[in-house]
Amino acid sequence: MKDDLLKIKGQALDSIAQAADLRALEDVRVATFGKKGTVTALSRTMGSLSAEERPAMGQMVNEVKDALEAAFTAKKQGLADAALEASLADEKIDITLPGRNFALGSKHPLTTVIDEICRIFMGMGYEIATGPDVETDYHNFEALNIPKNHPARDEQDTFYVEGGHVLRTHTSPVQIRKMSEGRLPIAAVAPGKVFRSDEVDATHSPVFHQIEGLVVDKGIHMGHLKGALTVFAEALFGEGVKTRFRPHHFPFTEPSAEMDISCFGCGQDAEKMQDCRICKGEGWVELLGCGMVHPKVLAGCGIDPEVYSGFAFGMGLERIAMQRYNIDDMRLLFDNDMRFLKQF
Ligand code: DAH
Repeated sequence: MKDDLLKIKGQALDSIAQAADLRALEDVRVATFGKKGTVTALSRTMGSLSAEERPAMGQMVNEVKDALEAAFTAKKQGLADAALEASLADEKIDITLPGRNFALGSKHPLTTVIDEICRIFMGMGYEIATGPDVETDYHNFEALNIPKNHPARDEQDTFYVEGGHVLRTHTSPVQIRKMSEGRLPIAAVAPGKVFRSDEVDATHSPVFHQIEGLVVDKGIHMGHLKGALTVFAEALFGEGVKTRFRPHHFPFTEPSAEMDISCFGCGQDAEKMQDCRICKGEGWVELLGCGMVHPKVLAGCGIDPEVYSGFAFGMGLERIAMQRYNIDDMRLLFDNDMRFLKQF
């Protein structure tokens, strides 16, 4: 039995030494000390020994158990150390590698134009006003003196929403909202989306942007309108730009005008003008519609037109952005193609 014990010890020590990883080592431990393990089986045969033999044999078995136990522990530690070494080598972090950059966005060209125009007017003391995209018929048409049979209400142009509401066709309803607040004087600009049932092409989109302007106070006249808009044009297009006002008609202003600016493409240079892509030989570019707020519109908002007067203006923003950045197709502004947007 002593020989068996020494044989078992020798085999177990060999197996422990050969175990390549913790799982293999565990297998050896089970094969040695498990229920059916070699040492366990041998211990069971102790009962067949004589009373004299038993103590010495028992001591030997315990010594073998202790020795194997120690070998297991040492091997286990060795394997764990090796595993740690390997993972440290494997997962080493190279802190000299350059970091990962976050992609930085840039402003959409339309946003840049809106911000710039707002900044110019804020510099003149205007506040920024807003209104909803889905408007009441009253704010979008009625209160702006656009009667029921006016062509602007034509279903071909206007998106009608359930309940008689519309997607606002211009930013002018913000004028009505501002004037109806009951606080005077007013100097405000209102940028925002507007909607018209247009087919999409290089110069049209069913969604586009306008900015509205409104000034109401005692004694406001056409001279204020011309002065403010000329200062604005110079700030946006550079000093030396000329403005011209042509009579026009809008239901909500009286008198009404359109303001042109001298062409920034050719600078009205006689030779360049002939084949100027921007003004097409005119020398002038239409920029906005404007006028003195109609007395009926003031009165409808609870403002006494005998005491107060005001001017208003409105302009499309896509065309300004397109001219400024030399963009020849409006669809580019809405496609959200990264290759296009990354250029700004
Ligand atoms: N609402 C007009 C349009 O969409 C633009 C406009 C013209 C606005 C004259 C005004 C104005 O405030 O006075 O065509």
